[in-house]
Amino acid sequence: MTTIAVLIGSLRHDSYHAKLADHIQHTFPHVTWTRVSIGDVPFFNEDVEREGDPDAVQQLKAHIRTADGVLILTPEYNGSVPGVLKNALDWASRPANDSVFLHKRVGIIGATPGMMGTIVAQLHARHILEAMRASVVPHDALHISRVHELCERANDPDTFRYVDRYVTRFIDYVNEPLAANANEQSLKEE
Ligand SMILES: Cc1cc2nc3c(=O)[nH]c(=O)nc-3n(C[C@H](O)[C@H](O)[C@H](O)COP(=O)(O)O)c2cc1C
Repeated sequence: MTTIAVLIGSLRHDSYHAKLADHIQHTFPHVTWTRVSIGDVPFFNEDVEREGDPDAVQQLKAHIRTADGVLILTPEYNGSVPGVLKNALDWASRPANDSVFLHKRVGIIGATPGMMGTIVAQLHARHILEAMRASVVPHDALHISRVHELCERANDPDTFRYVDRYVTRFIDYVNEPLAANANEQSLKEE
């Protein structure tokens, strides 16, 4: 069974991203979705890292290491990714060039009550993950605007059809054989 670790960039109790994660979990029960808590991860500090990863970091890394892919659901804060998500990614990016994210297949979903669909935050997330040499879903993105209106119509099966389409493609990407992935192929040939 495919296992996907889920990171949510919002700690808010009524987070729309958590609601979207609930929908995804419910719609794709053939996947094992593992929600990884990032709210307990302390601020990254190389001195602390040198003494050993704190428990929350060990758990974060273990979930990502054992997962076939990682799905990130994140809001945009002031035109970028929330600090809590960047902090978790910084911990998980270590050791550099041999991290749990190396070649890991990653999907990104972002939603906002506003009109711009978290476009900039998603570009930043992709840039950060590429710096970590993760493999972000190529040629595909999901920008959700007016998310509060979608959540009001959550019982209509049509409401989340774009979410379902993106997640279907992401699961296919996670399950693609290694050699079929152009990024990884080019890295192997270096
Ligand atoms: C500090 C902060 C900055 C925000 N900046 C943006 C932004 O740049 N773009 C945007 O579309 N929404 C922005 N928002 C609104 C969020 O999209 C909104 O709060 C969203 O519901 C957060 O996701 P959540 O429901 O999962 O917590 C911001 C919210 C906060 C708290």
